[in-house]
Amino acid sequence: MPATVIVGAQWGDEGKGKIVDLLAQHSDLVCRYQGGPNAGHTIVVGDETYKIRALPTGIVRGKPCVIGNGCVVDPEVLIGELDEFERRGRSTDEVYLSGNAHLIMPWHVAIDGASERRLGKLAIGTTRRGIGPCYADKAMRLGIRVQDILDPKILRQKIAVALAEKNLWLERVYESEPFRLETVAAQYESYAQRLRPYVTDTSLYVDNALRDGKSVLLEGAQATLLDLDHGTYPFVTSSNPVAANAATGVGIGPGRIDRVVGVAKAYVTRVGEGPFPTEIQGPDQERVRELGHEYGTVTGRSRRCGWLDLVALRYAVRVNGIDQLALTKLDVLSHFPELPVCTRYRLRDGAETSDFPVHQSDFHAAEPVYETLPGWDEALDGCATVSDLPDAARRYAEFVERALDVEIALIGTGAERASVLTRA
Ligand code: GDP
Ligand code: IMO
Ligand code: MG
Repeated sequence: MPATVIVGAQWGDEGKGKIVDLLAQHSDLVCRYQGGPNAGHTIVVGDETYKIRALPTGIVRGKPCVIGNGCVVDPEVLIGELDEFERRGRSTDEVYLSGNAHLIMPWHVAIDGASERRLGKLAIGTTRRGIGPCYADKAMRLGIRVQDILDPKILRQKIAVALAEKNLWLERVYESEPFRLETVAAQYESYAQRLRPYVTDTSLYVDNALRDGKSVLLEGAQATLLDLDHGTYPFVTSSNPVAANAATGVGIGPGRIDRVVGVAKAYVTRVGEGPFPTEIQGPDQERVRELGHEYGTVTGRSRRCGWLDLVALRYAVRVNGIDQLALTKLDVLSHFPELPVCTRYRLRDGAETSDFPVHQSDFHAAEPVYETLPGWDEALDGCATVSDLPDAARRYAEFVERALDVEIALIGTGAERASVLTRA
């Protein structure tokens, strides 16, 4: 398949990194199309664990990697990752960074934190990496882009213009420390030295790859329910993780996308605030968290855990046009005698629906209606194919397929790279 999007189908951390790593074996190029260092994608290879925030996961397989125009780039984080991969003996020569991607500046991080503090109980629970303020400046046409580092004079000018406004905000609205032009300019000039060789016309590069018949993976960060337009606004991120934005985020036509693979856990997690109908009440929440090691990659926060929500997943299938699903972390559900799966929501008027509510108040008040599926008591580590799965585990996956009318092409049975069952 020439261009495949890998998209998170829930609230993030579904195991996108692991699925991209698997598919990257047979791909020529891996691209990130949105988000920034709010992402944390984990790949486990034997004893080694990679937690990647800025680079496409394809770097672990040594594949050419593109950071598309739709991404926001924190140079310090990106340089840290480039250095780290080089230390581990990997080449970063084939990393291509879009000149149109926006730079996260120190005031974005400061404003993200200050705004969260100010919101108090209404806080979004962001990763505090400056993501929202950076995308806001992009929309305000006040942003500083990667290509601005190519010319020290322009870079300094843009920093001066931005600071004139940001320092007012920081001092007068947030009562925090201003930034000094000299300090920021010197810091970003030094980042510029390191990053300049990677800056590329990535739209042209990806288009040429597709024209040459190469196979391209478009790696989503965050997920459908965190999407700025389609997620549970305002408890969302500030970009569009949904599959259609993969075209905009790397600069190719939408018709180039051949396949959309959605990644969903066999249950659900959410980090940060916001409504979550199937959040588990009672001790099973902690049990799932412990078994699934559900602690954030970026912030270390405990992830909230819930039972599988097929209403939300059906919505993700719709808004992304998901062709196939990867169902990850099925192993975590082993040893639960029964597994509730949400198939409908009960709304305030008592009506039941299998469609995701369009109005926030309906969603906030939605109560999950569960069907209870039998659990299984065997660990899944010994399974080499889907047919090795315990009957109840296989039936769990088949139930999901039937409810969504989408094929589950991959099933995750462990964190390690090789712990994936294919359907073939
Ligand atoms: P991403 O942000 O979507 O790439 O997901 P994260 O890496 O943030 O979180 C997924 C976590 O689950 C990581 O620690 C993975 O190593 C782990 N993981 C992925 N797939 C599986 C699986 O099938 N089983 C288990 N037990 N762990 C998995
Ligand atoms: P990956 O790519 C899970 C959540 C934050 C917060 C909201 C807004 O690893 O799946 P932001 O910092 O983006 O402004 O925070 O989005 N969030 C994620 N949750 N996985 C992620 O990325 C996330 N990136 C952001 O917790 O609720
Ligand atoms: Mg993650």
